[in-house]
Amino acid sequence: FSFSEANKSEIAKILQKYPSSRKASAVMPLLYLVQNQILEETGRSWIPKVAMDEVAMILDMAPIRVYEVASFYTMFNTQPVGRFHLQVCRTTACWLKGSDDVVEACKKSIGVDELGQTSSDGLFTLSEVECLGACANAPVLQINNDYFEDLTPQDVTDIIEKLKKGEKVTPGTVANRLNSAPEGGLT
Ligand code: FES
Repeated sequence: FSFSEANKSEIAKILQKYPSSRKASAVMPLLYLVQNQILEETGRSWIPKVAMDEVAMILDMAPIRVYEVASFYTMFNTQPVGRFHLQVCRTTACWLKGSDDVVEACKKSIGVDELGQTSSDGLFTLSEVECLGACANAPVLQINNDYFEDLTPQDVTDIIEKLKKGEKVTPGTVANRLNSAPEGGLT
């Protein structure tokens, strides 16, 4: 693995934000760059061990410390996933608002039986994750780095069908909740 020229420049900018004795603080932004670069280059979003070693070398860290970070956070994939990683929040608010139905809609739309599986076309991988921090707009589905909220199973199906066709999807609240706030509300 080797960072692209654009990412090498980006790394130089990121490192300027931290004291030279605290380079390890940049581990998450660099892992994020790795994952996005590999997605662009291969259509699979993940961070291979060789790339973690490269990050460790750049940041003067023990490789095990980089592996610890990459394997702790669900937004980093240590195994290849499809172009679109469907991550359904399963924590209490989303569960009460139908996350099980969101999971079922995902399974049906992408043609897999179990969590953790990737669709036969390699486009989608389905996972469950813990709270995504948007409980008021439950249920929530994260797709790569975007968040879709206030979902019904039909919304999920529609989003996936658009992605299959290469169409653009709009993240945020599907129910347009902010725009429907009563007069005098926060908007
Ligand atoms: Fe799903 Fe918090 S419980 S976003």
